Amino acid sequence: MQSLKRHPALADLSRHHHHALALCLKITKAADDANAQPALIEAIRQFWEQGGQEHFREEEQFILPSYSRYAEIDHPEIIAMLLEHVHIRALADIITRIEGEHQADIRQFGSILEKHVRREERVIFPMVEKALPEEELERLSPYLHEDSPHCRIQPK
Ligand SMILES: [Fe+2]
Repeated sequence: MQSLKRHPALADLSRHHHHALALCLKITKAADDANAQPALIEAIRQFWEQGGQEHFREEEQFILPSYSRYAEIDHPEIIAMLLEHVHIRALADIITRIEGEHQADIRQFGSILEKHVRREERVIFPMVEKALPEEELERLSPYLHEDSPHCRIQPK
């Protein structure tokens, strides 16, 4: 999915999107199997705790504030992206923290996450690459890398 033209500053986030899509595929394949639920919950926990929430935070803390300096932030795609962040955060919290039956929550988590990743790859990241000057992308780059101080760990 990562575009050949993806700016290096956004490449690690794009790579992480691939992990997210792999998780979505796993969920799609197993969501109807009640026996698979514990393994899916564990996979979601790993995705979320080992990089997922850091990834969201980096987009909210670094990419969008920077974007707002160069382009109109009050944009339907940005609003949709942020609402998806909220929904995904809420579902991740419910699924990983509250004991119980979560088949519908897991299915919803997978479908929102997939739609969200495709929106960011196809629409948001191209908007960011177009709006931000090269020097601004380079300035952000250290905050968005796997070896940044925030140190995302890739899910297996
Ligand atoms: Fe993202």
